[in-house]
Order: sequence, then C-alpha cells, then structure tokens
Amino acid sequence: MQIKKIGILTGGGDCPGLNPAIRGVVYRAMSEGIECIGILDGWKGMIECKSISLKLQDVEYIMNKGGTIIGTSRTNPYKKENGPERCVETLKKLELDAVVAMGGEDTLGVATKLFKDKNFPVVGVPKTMDNDLSCTDFTFGFDTAVTVAVDAAERLLDTGRSHRRIMVLEVMGRHAGWVALYTGIASAADWILLPEEEVNINKMCEHLKKVYERKKSALVIVSEGVILPGLKAEKEELDEFGHMILKKRGIGEQVADVIEKNTGIETRVAVIGHIQRGGAPTLFDRILGIRVGVKAVELILEGKFGYMVALKGNDLVPVPLEEATGQLKTVPPQWIQFMHFLFK
Ligand code: F6P
Repeated sequence: MQIKKIGILTGGGDCPGLNPAIRGVVYRAMSEGIECIGILDGWKGMIECKSISLKLQDVEYIMNKGGTIIGTSRTNPYKKENGPERCVETLKKLELDAVVAMGGEDTLGVATKLFKDKNFPVVGVPKTMDNDLSCTDFTFGFDTAVTVAVDAAERLLDTGRSHRRIMVLEVMGRHAGWVALYTGIASAADWILLPEEEVNINKMCEHLKKVYERKKSALVIVSEGVILPGLKAEKEELDEFGHMILKKRGIGEQVADVIEKNTGIETRVAVIGHIQRGGAPTLFDRILGIRVGVKAVELILEGKFGYMVALKGNDLVPVPLEEATGQLKTVPPQWIQFMHFLFK
C-alpha cells in the first residue's frame, strides 16, 4: 500500500524531545513525498477529529523547544463512549494511511489495543521522562529531566551546607525510581528513596546522622512514588488510565518530617515537580528524539504496524508494541545494591 498521509500524535505527560521527534517524522516523510498532519492533544484529537497541518516551516526550528507543538492530554479512548470507533472514523475522515503515536505506557497501551481490536495502522515512538517503558534502553525526556533535577539538587546542597541542614528533594518518576536514582547518583546524594525499595527509616536516619557528623549537611533524593511504612496510600485520586495523581501525596514533606523527628537535625524539602518536564531538550534527547522520529516513518514504509521503535545499545530496532507496554521497567536489585555502595 502506498503511504500518502501520516498523522502524528503526542499523548501523556509532555517531555523535552517530543518536538525533535515530530521534526524527524516530518522530514523523513517529506523525503518520500508523504504529507504529515498533527493530531491535537493526543488521543483526544483522534476522538474529536482535531488536527493541524505540519509543513517544513512548522517544524524547521523546533529542535530546541520543550513541550510538544501539537499538544497532549491523558485522554483514554477506551474510557469514552465509542472512543475506539471514533478514532477509526477520524482516520478515514482525515484520509490517514498511518499514525505515529508518541507516548509512554498509557498512550502506547491505547495504540496496542487499537492495533489489535481495530487493525489501526499505528507505529509507536517511546517517550517519557520516567524512563519506565520496557524493551527500550532509554526514552527521550529522561536525560533532560534528570539534568534539571541534578541542577536543583546541587543548588539545594549549597544552601543546605550554609545553614547546616539536611535537604530533601522530591522528584517525579511515578512508580519507577529511575529519575531519583540517576539524580541522586549524579548529585552525590547521601540517601535515595525509590519506590522499588522498602523504606527503612532507622537505617536512613542513622546513616544521615553519621554523614551530618562529618559534613554538617546532607542531601536526600526521594521519588514521588515512595510510600513510607505505616502510611499506606489510600483514597488516591486516579487519572483516566487508573494511575494515582502522586503530586497530591507530598511524600517529600513526609520524608523531611520523619528525618527531622528521628535525627533532631533541621531539615528542609523542595519539590521540583513539572519544572523537570520543561525547557530545551539536552543533546541526548534531541538526537534520540529525531532518530526515533525518522525511524518511525521507516517502519511505516516497511508496513510494520503494531511496532514501536526501541533503542538497544545505540541501534534503533522495531519491537512489538504489545511487548513494550506489557510491563513497566522498574529499577532492578543490582542498581539498588550499586546505589548503596555510594552512601558513605
Ligand atoms: O509520566 C510523567 C510524569 O511527569 C510523572 O513522573 C508524574 O507522576 C506525572 O507525569 C505527572 O502528571 P501530570 O502532568 O498529569 O500532573
């Protein structure tokens, strides 16, 4: 089948690298004489048939732009009346031969289902600052988010040292601790709390007291998905994909309170939040973004619908969407062990 027109959508939390990826799709498609359009606000635009044209001048200078020029949302077509059917109608109405869906677990989970249920001609591009998508070594957005968080951690250390305080930084990452792990290691943190490891308050506080004796300050990085013992996450607000809205829990604050109470040392907390998701993409995210965008068009030309572009080593390879979205990629025990060697 000859491909004449491709739709691009970006879903879920935005992240730096999406615009380079959009540019990659448009540029590669142009080389084949294929037209591209942007579906606005992720799957919402597919349901509501909202789109914009994407021509050379629209994407030429977006390599350095954070966010996504075509908008995003956390809309799940499977939670809307006739959502999947309306996605298929839009496909026909806009005369699309293929769709490139850029997203994480949720957006690509929808792509997986639509491909299976409706034979929807979709190819996936992995993006998420959480880096928790299986089958790919890295997702763009992660490198920028961690770079921003490391800068924040180092700023906290400066003020923490001056005031002889323990500083706690809460970072995003949802139920995977990659952002906290990399931020903590790169900023020489004294303790890191990950959702993948049960919190041992005693062990952490004893260690922080020892560190404080030596340095008169300490830095703790906590992932937003951490749960303190005895404080079970109940009655959480859920999004359309059934995920807890973690920012409402204030885990950073809870950790700082526990530390101050158990060590007697003055402790302060900062929550970096969405600042991690904005700003210009790093070099790594720009190159990865544009590469996966180009590759997505190549998968379409090969007729590899139902696949996602994955980074393995430095190569881009197709993997079935079903495999990529089946299970979250969380921090494995060997990384946790490695992290503990660095607390002295
Ligand atoms: O999945 C990316 C992410 O930034 C998570 O780390 C975070 O929990 C969530 O999105 C925040 O979502 P929202 O932008 O909808 O508040």
